[in-house]
Amino acid sequence: MKILHIDASARKDDSVTRKLSAQLVSRLAKSDGQVTYRDLSEGLPFVDEAKIAAYFTAPEARTDEHREAIALSDTIVSELKNNDVLVIGVPIYNFSMPASFKAWADLAARVGETFRYTANGPVGLLENKKAYVVIASGGTRVDSQIDFLTPWLRHFLGFIGIKDVTVISADALNQNFDAGLAQAERQLLDDINLVAAFGPQHGLRGDKQDNMVESGDFRDSVHGRIGNSSAPQRVWR
Ligand SMILES: Cc1cc2nc3c(=O)[nH]c(=O)nc-3n(C[C@H](O)[C@H](O)[C@H](O)COP(=O)(O)O)c2cc1C
Repeated sequence: MKILHIDASARKDDSVTRKLSAQLVSRLAKSDGQVTYRDLSEGLPFVDEAKIAAYFTAPEARTDEHREAIALSDTIVSELKNNDVLVIGVPIYNFSMPASFKAWADLAARVGETFRYTANGPVGLLENKKAYVVIASGGTRVDSQIDFLTPWLRHFLGFIGIKDVTVISADALNQNFDAGLAQAERQLLDDINLVAAFGPQHGLRGDKQDNMVESGDFRDSVHGRIGNSSAPQRVWR
């Protein structure tokens, strides 16, 4: 199985989404997985006029300038095409996504590459792929009326052809860190999704893997670094 692992949190060591997405990837990749990793916090360029011009120029007509303008977009598109499973760790920032994630999406959505136009509207070109999205938030409930990330993500992934999307949510962590994390653990440990997608060898229960921290250990390890922090926590509405 080939896995594309993407993290978007601006935080490194204390990030809940990074921890959870890494756990999921290590479990999915346990036997024969190959993992490609992209850390969006390292910075991505925004779409600009040069990129748009190149996007809408036929490949055979592109100049060196065009090719240079979309080299990173080409790489991001290849990463999507060349992997079977996408694991995304992304926090809610200001009721939506981190800007880095939107920059990634603007580089990933490419006419003729990841979607195409038809008489019946756009059609996604990334077929037979599965996405897991790990979402964390301070107070905004995932899929609530003020969560503009999760519905957007499902729609965007579907737009480029990825319709099989499982959301794992560690939400409202500022209200109850343990409950938010326990909920994500339950979803992560849910055999049904993993077994249905990849067969029994990918169930998380049963044989504990060396690289898989058990739920209590994991909660303690994250809680030890984040939940016990004496820093004032911001409450999001
Ligand atoms: C810039 C910024 C904006 C945020 N906006 C929201 C928000 O709108 N709603 C919310 O519930 N939490 C918000 N949070 C809290 C994060 O979603 C929460 O801390 C989450 O755990 C971050 O993910 P991470 O642990 O992977 O870094 C925000 C955090 C930051 C840094």
